[in-house]
Parts: sequence; structure tokens; C-alpha cells
Amino acid sequence: MSVWFNPARELESLLRKVAPAVPGLDASFQPELRPSDPRHADFQSNGAIAAAKKAKANPRALATALVDAVKATGELDESLIQVEVAGPGFINFKLTPKALGSWLREYRDESKWRAGASRIMGGRKVVIDYPSPNTAKQMHVGHLRPIVIGEAVARLIEFCGAELVRDNHIGDWGTNFGILILAIKRAGFQLDAKSPTALEDLERLYKEGSVLTKADPAQLDAARAELARLQQGDAASLALWTEIVAVSNAACQRIYDQFGLKTDVILGESFYRDKVDQVYTELQSAGLAEESEGALVMWCDEEPRFSRHAETKMPFIVRKKDGSSNYASTDLATLLYRTEHFKADEIVYVTDGRQQDHFQQLFLNGAKWFRATDRKLPRLRHVWFGTILGEDGKAIKTKSGDPVRLQELIDEATERAFTAVTEKNPDLPEPERRAIAKAIGVAALRYVDLSSNRTMDYSFSWTKLLAFEGNTAPYLMYAVVRVRSIFRKNGIEPGQGEAGATDPETPTEIALARKLLGFTAALDQALEDLRPHHLCTYLHELAAAYGAFYAADSVLVDDPAVKARRLMLCARTTSIMECGLRLLGIEPVERM
Ligand code: ARG
Repeated sequence: MSVWFNPARELESLLRKVAPAVPGLDASFQPELRPSDPRHADFQSNGAIAAAKKAKANPRALATALVDAVKATGELDESLIQVEVAGPGFINFKLTPKALGSWLREYRDESKWRAGASRIMGGRKVVIDYPSPNTAKQMHVGHLRPIVIGEAVARLIEFCGAELVRDNHIGDWGTNFGILILAIKRAGFQLDAKSPTALEDLERLYKEGSVLTKADPAQLDAARAELARLQQGDAASLALWTEIVAVSNAACQRIYDQFGLKTDVILGESFYRDKVDQVYTELQSAGLAEESEGALVMWCDEEPRFSRHAETKMPFIVRKKDGSSNYASTDLATLLYRTEHFKADEIVYVTDGRQQDHFQQLFLNGAKWFRATDRKLPRLRHVWFGTILGEDGKAIKTKSGDPVRLQELIDEATERAFTAVTEKNPDLPEPERRAIAKAIGVAALRYVDLSSNRTMDYSFSWTKLLAFEGNTAPYLMYAVVRVRSIFRKNGIEPGQGEAGATDPETPTEIALARKLLGFTAALDQALEDLRPHHLCTYLHELAAAYGAFYAADSVLVDDPAVKARRLMLCARTTSIMECGLRLLGIEPVERM
């Protein structure tokens, strides 16, 4: 019998499988398996206690019967996993050193973990919608989160076996284009796509246009007319629009490249302009939408889960008074397209938290529509995030009140990383220090964002970002460099010199081995609610467990078996750290 990649998952399904045969339990049994205090167990199930309460049974007796049933299957290798009933009816599972050793020998590298993890989402088709910026603007600090969270979530889902489509749903068809085209025409501006300031010019014009339309209702009408002209397919408007979008996409791409982001398709709002009519027709003929004050509206009477307007029926306007489409109509059309064209089993939307109401309504109304038209609704998830605050606790802005440009943020992170790297390594040639700084700077921006729970706001601080201690990118990247240096000094690669490695023995070896195996639980946790910070916390803890091991157990000892197993622990630490960092979007560096 080989050792399980993810023992917790396997134990859980084993418990579920045997439960119906245990008197007092049935198929609804929830094992509630949790990681446990390592002094007593690796995993603990308290499902029997809850079930006993329901069945008015003795919890210890129920737990014992459950354990007997598990043992009777012969699927639990007790030389690897010991099981016992503890306290009022907990079931404790403990991995033996043999299990830890076997796991480390069996799951040696990324391809093995990938194979193990791919059972989680294998066979599923997932569309992930990110970073999906609105066009004709430079990317600013607000775009950091959809980029880095989206990318980490995408990589995680892909790692766990799903077939993924990264769909960049850019906002390229909205009201802003009316204003922008109006301003361009008024200024007699000639857009030169090759000019390095093209996007800045557009941004400035847009600002002028919006000041103008706010001040003067006649100009607002003119902007609306421009938008209508564009949406009706006027050739000159479309030509201008095409160029604006191209300029904007090229600028975004320069940012994406620095973050290693590769989207598969860019199907923005404009892509759906000829697909919204079907939405209107179907909703109306199913009786799901009605005209209200000229607009087409769906009413949402389900109990909103987290709405800020919990008492009211929320209108979901799917077509505006003037007949034009809006965010809701395109999102409904997009939902259908992703279901039919991409055959999505699941769609993940990555946006900021202010769009929770929109997605809640989209999901509820989309479900109604799909039910009425006999379609299978994919699983829909909104991965939302909080705001990045300045050190003063307010939304981060420049002195002039504009949002900080993302490129400036990258440049400053890189510059500061360069100073730090130079301090640590004054002797490295400058080009190498520059290259390392580039990697660390972007990694630090990324990590600080990913390491806090995404639904929380966080305060941006350069000191925290680039600290070489604590739960930061520089710390973890440096930890990898240090582990790797053991191999470099000995002229071998991680993975070499492991032949004859025995099972972990000392307390620090065992603690590190356990932590390494905990990678599977961290993946599970991060995947459950699509929260990458669980992976960050895990990697930070792994670095600490490695530190304790390294301080207590010398690696390069004379006893060949001991040396081999310690080299194995070092090698697994390196590769799990590297694999984990890559899942977060961080490329490890050779030297720092
Ligand atoms: N463009 C939108 C924004 O910047 C985000 C789009 C998210 N995706 C979607 N299908 N609505 O706020």
C-alpha cells in the first residue's frame, strides 16, 4: 500500500464511506477532520460527537464503532497511520515516522504533487475572470489586487487539476467612451498610438471631458450621443475606439509582463454587444424581466446574503432607459457565453468588494434565467478583496489626490529592493543586483498583498514590504537561497545524495517532515475559499520549521543514512517552498 498524498482528504472520505454501515450514523455524516495539536495527533475528527448528540447515542461508543468500521475495510495501513478514540469521542489519527519518511520519498517533486493535487479539480473546466480593468486609463494601485490575487487563484486552481481559461473581461464599452470621444473631438486631438504619452493624453482628455459633462447638461447629452453613435456602429467612432482600446491594452500588457501574467483571451464588454439581445428576449419571454420606467428590470426577491440593502427588493437593471446595454446585461451575456462556448463548470470572478451586490444579483438572477431555460448553471464564485490603504489608514493616493500609478509603485519597490540587495551583497556585479532587485521588488508587492486575508483592507508600508524578517517575500526568497546553498557548497543538486535515507527521527526532523506534508492541507485550505493567504502562512511556518531543524540537526554528518535523510528534508523544503512561491506568482532567485 503506498502512502496517501493527502492523508486528511483520504481519511475523510474513508470515514464518510463507512459511516452508513455504523448504527446511529448515515450518509449525511460529517467527519469534521481538522489538523490537530501535533503532540496528540496529526488530524482529529470530532464528527462522532456531533452525530451522537443528534442520535442521542454515546459519543465514545459511536466513535469506537466508527474506528472499528474503518479498520475493517483494510484500507488503513496502521503502520503508517495510527488511530484511536480520545476524550469524549474524538478520533485521533497520527502519522508514524514511517509514514512521514515514505511520503517524503514518494512525493519528491512538483510533478508528483501536481499529480496528487490534480485529483481535487481534475476534469473540471474553470473560467477565471481577471484582472478585467476598465480601458483607456493607466493602471493604478487599485489594479494590483485583481492582478496578483487573480493570478495566484488561477495558478492554484490549475495546480489542482482544473482546465483553466483566463479571461480578461476588460471594460471597453461603457459610458466613459462617450465622454472620452467627446473630449477628443472637442480638443481636435489626433491619437498617435505610437506616442509614449498616448495613454496619459487620453487620461487627461477623459478628465477634462468628465469635468465638462458634470458642469454642463448639454455636454452630458453630447457625450451620450457619442456613446450611442459608437454603440450603433458608426464607422468613424468605431475606428477611434479600436485605437483607444489598442493603446490601452498595450499599456496594460507592459504591466502584466512585469507580473508574469498571461491571460488566454481578452473578451471585454464590447465582445458581447451583439449578444445582449438574446438576453433581453429570453428574460422577457420567460417572464423574468419587465419594463419599468422605460428600463428593463429583473427583481430580486431572494433573501440577499450580504447585501447592504437587505430589506428592499433589489432591481437589477438589464437594459437602460435609452435602450443601451449596461454592466448587468453584458455580464448575463458573458455568463451564457462562458457556459456554452467554454463549457465552464465553474466561473470565478475576481474584483473588489464594492461589487458584491452586483455579483450577488448576477448569480441569483442568472440562476433564475438558467432554470427557466433549462440550462445547467456553472458554479459561480465571487473572489472579492478589500482596499489598499495608505499608512494613514485612508485609501492610498498621491499628493494631488490621484491614485498612485502601478508602474511607479513597481519602480519604487525595485529601487528600494536594489538598496537592500546592495547592502546585503555589495560585491555582486551591479547588473546582477539590478536583476535580483527587479525580482524581489515585484515579488514583495505581490506577497504583501497575498499574505493578508483578501477580504480585509490592509495598510501599505514599504518597511513591511521589503523586510528581510517576518512573513514577507524577501524573507521567504532568502530562506530558499539559504537552503539551496547547502547543496551548492557540496556540489550537488537538491534531490541528490538521498539514497538510503531513513525515516525522520529527531523531534526537529519530525516536526519539519510534518510541516512538509502539511503542504497538502495548505493547498486544500487555500482552495476552499480561494484565499491565497493560507499558502503564505504555510510557507512562512515551513521556513520556521526548517530554521529550527537546521539549528538543531547538522546536515553534513558522517553517518550516511542520517546525512541522506537530512539532505532529503532540505531538498523537499527547497522544492515545496519554490513550488509554493510559484503558485503565488513568485519566481525564486539563485542568489540574494
Ligand atoms: N471592469 C470591471 C471593473 O474594473 C471589472 C469586471 C469584472 N468582471 C465582470 N465580469 N464583471 O470594475
